[in-house]
Amino acid sequence: MSLLTDRVAMITGGGRGIGEASARRLAEYGAKVILADMDLEAAQRVADSINAEGGDARALEFNVAEFDAIPAKVAKARELFGRIDILVNVAGITGSTPIDAITLDSWDRMMDIDLKSMFFVTQAVFAIMKEQRYGKLVHMSSLAALRGGRSSDASYACAKAGILNLSKCFALSGAPYHITSNAICPGNILTPMGRTLSWSKVDPKTYIPMGRYGTAEDVANAVLFYASDLSDYITGDFMNVNGGLYM
Ligand SMILES: NC(=O)c1ccc[n+]([C@@H]2O[C@H](COP(=O)([O-])OP(=O)(O)OC[C@H]3O[C@@H](n4cnc5c(N)ncnc54)[C@H](O)[C@@H]3O)[C@@H](O)[C@H]2O)c1
Repeated sequence: MSLLTDRVAMITGGGRGIGEASARRLAEYGAKVILADMDLEAAQRVADSINAEGGDARALEFNVAEFDAIPAKVAKARELFGRIDILVNVAGITGSTPIDAITLDSWDRMMDIDLKSMFFVTQAVFAIMKEQRYGKLVHMSSLAALRGGRSSDASYACAKAGILNLSKCFALSGAPYHITSNAICPGNILTPMGRTLSWSKVDPKTYIPMGRYGTAEDVANAVLFYASDLSDYITGDFMNVNGGLYM
């Protein structure tokens, strides 16, 4: 028996970066995983690789910002393995628009993709978890939620701060059903997204106490903890994964 044997996990944004590493980590500990990503080819590549290593993975084309399609997509995800025990909300974008150049449209786009989608995907999965009387919700926030946007912009930081509260709201509603809800605040993580941000051009030894950027696997380890029963008495909380950058 492994930590997540018989558990089914859906990971949004599972096609690369933190989502991919999280899916691989959960699969390594026995979970069946659903890679839900708008980039189906990328999700399929990850699923094939997990299956080749003896895991059980499926790819699902899922654009989380197509709101009307969320209930049907979540229903389809459930059909793949018959249940959803773990939801890891990772899909998202970043932005680097200077504060005085943010427009109504750019603000709305960020809120739609990084916050609104996360609420409504979680709401749809939450209904399944309530039926099961079991669930683990893990939401990807950011260091920017705690200290404002620096490399990333204000709309991103505000969306990520909203995620911390979204997580608490599901924690409160989910507690009677044995559903926990927690968030993770990654610092500077060298993924395809991270490489587009200005911090990736700076020597990490000069500003990160641990002297290196984070890896997607560093974040995946925190996901594993919140996705497993090791965190059963922890809800409405968040974990920093930043090599000491928040101090
Ligand atoms: N990289 C960092 O330094 C860092 C720091 C803090 C928080 N985060 C957060 O972690 C999450 C993942 O970041 P990453 O660095 O792995 O990003 P990434 O850009 O490398 O990967 C994001 C994945 O999400 C998918 N995606 C994007 N929009 C989607 C949508 N509408 N529907 C479905 N899938 C979608 C992409 O196709 C991609 O596979 C994001 O929410 C990001 O804000 C990242």
